[in-house]
Amino acid sequence: MATGILKRAIPMSRVATSSAARLLLARHHASETQAQQVEPKAKSTANLKTFSIYRWTPDNPSKPELQDYQIDLKECGPMVLDALIKIKNEIDPSLTFRRSCREGICGSCAMNIDGCNGLACLTKIPDGGASTITPLPHMFVIKDLVVDMTNFYNQYKSIEPWLKRKTSPPTPGKEIPQSKKDRAKLDGMYECILCACCSTSCPSYWWNPESYLGPAALLHANRWIMDSRDEFTKERLDAINDEFKLYRCHTILNCARACPKGLNPGKKIINIKQLQLAK
Ligand code: SF4
Ligand code: SF4
Ligand code: FES
Repeated sequence: MATGILKRAIPMSRVATSSAARLLLARHHASETQAQQVEPKAKSTANLKTFSIYRWTPDNPSKPELQDYQIDLKECGPMVLDALIKIKNEIDPSLTFRRSCREGICGSCAMNIDGCNGLACLTKIPDGGASTITPLPHMFVIKDLVVDMTNFYNQYKSIEPWLKRKTSPPTPGKEIPQSKKDRAKLDGMYECILCACCSTSCPSYWWNPESYLGPAALLHANRWIMDSRDEFTKERLDAINDEFKLYRCHTILNCARACPKGLNPGKKIINIKQLQLAK
């Protein structure tokens, strides 16, 4: 502002400038010159990255295709979800994906990023080259990166994921006590956010999605089997003692590699099988 006033108020051709004014003017001209030099430089150092994103819409049902979007990573947050939000906000509002919490809690941003299932909000934008983003594998696509989770949720519901009792609580109307040791038996299971990264990375689940319960539902089955407060352990074990529901798991452990919460559903499935043998 000060240099703007100086430029208008003191015509240089007629007025002898003071040394202070000359200094201000010199700085003003220097900063203008620098700005002209810096602007093209900033453009040339943009860190451009291409995202190839799976696109399909039921409004125009043709073959799905990968659509390329290029963004400057210098103007984007560090996570894949940041890139998707930037693309949707600034380039293509029709791009469709699920997200909610942005911190690995809701499980809704699960997708396949460069061949691995993961949560877009917890996955850093991969270095180098282009990245390919597709929906969770072997799921019916509703639109773009949004898949139909109905079968997955029905399987979760089928294991009756709630406390079941045959007797009344020790103190009616109060919580049922549990020792610290018994509570610790639920570690590695209660943290599951039902994102489906594990089930949709499991080859057995790909081939038998209707009849095999898959690692997520079986992890939750084990969670209730192991709960000291639950009184339907035998019935729960009987309900899943089935060639397809349980024994399609061949302990390949893709599920453990895919879980963004660091859980190991395959190990919990082994525990169920051991309990079946011990009955
Ligand atoms: S361990 Fe079992 S549930 Fe996990 S990926 Fe392998 S077959 Fe699927
Ligand atoms: S076990 Fe892990 S990958 Fe599977 S649904 Fe739960 S949080 Fe997701
Ligand atoms: S947005 Fe909730 S887990 Fe990614």
